[in-house]
Amino acid sequence: VVAESGAIERIGQLMTDRGWSGRVLLVTDDNLETLGWRARCADALRAAGFAIQSVVLPAGEEFKSLDSLSMLYDESLRFGLERSDTVIGLGGGVVGDLAGFLAATYMRGVRLVLLPTTLLAQVDASIGGKTGVDVGETKNIAGAFYPARLVVIDPSALATLPERLLADGMAEIVKIGCMRSPALVQALRDLQGPATIRDRPDITWTAARLKTDVVRVDPHEKGIRAQLNFGHTVGHGIEAASDFAQSHGRCVAAGMAAESRVAAESNQCQSDVPATVEDLLCRFGLPSRLPGIEAAAALSAARHDKKRERGTIRVAVPRRIGEGTVLAWSQEQLARAIECAVGGEL
Ligand SMILES: NC(=O)c1ccc[n+]([C@@H]2O[C@H](COP(=O)([O-])OP(=O)(O)OC[C@H]3O[C@@H](n4cnc5c(N)ncnc54)[C@H](O)[C@@H]3O)[C@@H](O)[C@H]2O)c1
Ligand SMILES: [Zn+2]
Repeated sequence: VVAESGAIERIGQLMTDRGWSGRVLLVTDDNLETLGWRARCADALRAAGFAIQSVVLPAGEEFKSLDSLSMLYDESLRFGLERSDTVIGLGGGVVGDLAGFLAATYMRGVRLVLLPTTLLAQVDASIGGKTGVDVGETKNIAGAFYPARLVVIDPSALATLPERLLADGMAEIVKIGCMRSPALVQALRDLQGPATIRDRPDITWTAARLKTDVVRVDPHEKGIRAQLNFGHTVGHGIEAASDFAQSHGRCVAAGMAAESRVAAESNQCQSDVPATVEDLLCRFGLPSRLPGIEAAAALSAARHDKKRERGTIRVAVPRRIGEGTVLAWSQEQLARAIECAVGGEL
């Protein structure tokens, strides 16, 4: 992971420094094209002697599809991309997951470089090697573990990112801080509002490094990586029940508040955890509840989440702030947490 301001404009140099040369298939979306990020990246690569071919996909989750992947294989072949060449994903998690799966599977694997441009992709999606596409309505169902050889986190990309997307990324930063680092939680108290993260690249890098540390120990989610699911058991349930009308970050936020409240009631975490979580969420304009979502639908979606394990549900929560654990919950606890998240009685 390279983390430095202006790094996108030095990508060519960063790659030649590593002894890499040849062709680059640059995958991005039309927002990054319009904002000029693709051109900046392409110019830097060309100046360093790379032959490049850009593929600009329409932005949006619906394009994280087999159709897009198929088009990318065609483009790779047409361009003459070879085993020793490179795929670069310049964009958010959608572009990264797609470029990653292309790199994992084209000729059984070519070099992958990720240039994450959303906060969520910088602290979460670009790290840990999960790649994949959606099939029909089922998210991330086809994929592979294929870590990028290089991840370049350039905080200047956040200058053009709308606040609502900054807030979504902040939800994942709150998550990793609460589970892994009292110091990060303390640093978050310097911020007020999602836009303030633009002035604190140190916080983005700390969050990214904390995730890197977790996935290095547990790349295939057999143990401690499950801690990164704080807020996600309930969050995925309400996200699905809202028909994805609510963003992932907002659903995870309400999920973290609800999961920690129920854990505190059951004496499974320190009693100050829920209030601290809610204070952090409030700071970034993230909701602690999402009223109006149907509890029954959210519960059934949460039950079908893949983290389920024979009757009990595994839920990641901070035991105390900065120290996470994974608990086995009953169906009743899950139901109660969903009630909390959708604004039911406390
Ligand atoms: N691989 C993983 O471990 C992992 C983890 C979390 C999420 N994900 C995946 O990531 C995806 C969500 O990622 P996302 O939130 O980055 O969504 P996204 O890639 O759809 O990006 C969100 C929007 O922001 C735009 N954008 C990107 N960078 C910008 C910039 N610098 N300025 C202005 N606009 C910009 C994009 O064009 C898009 O419209 C989901 O598909 C999810 O499944 C993967
Ligand atoms: Zn998430």
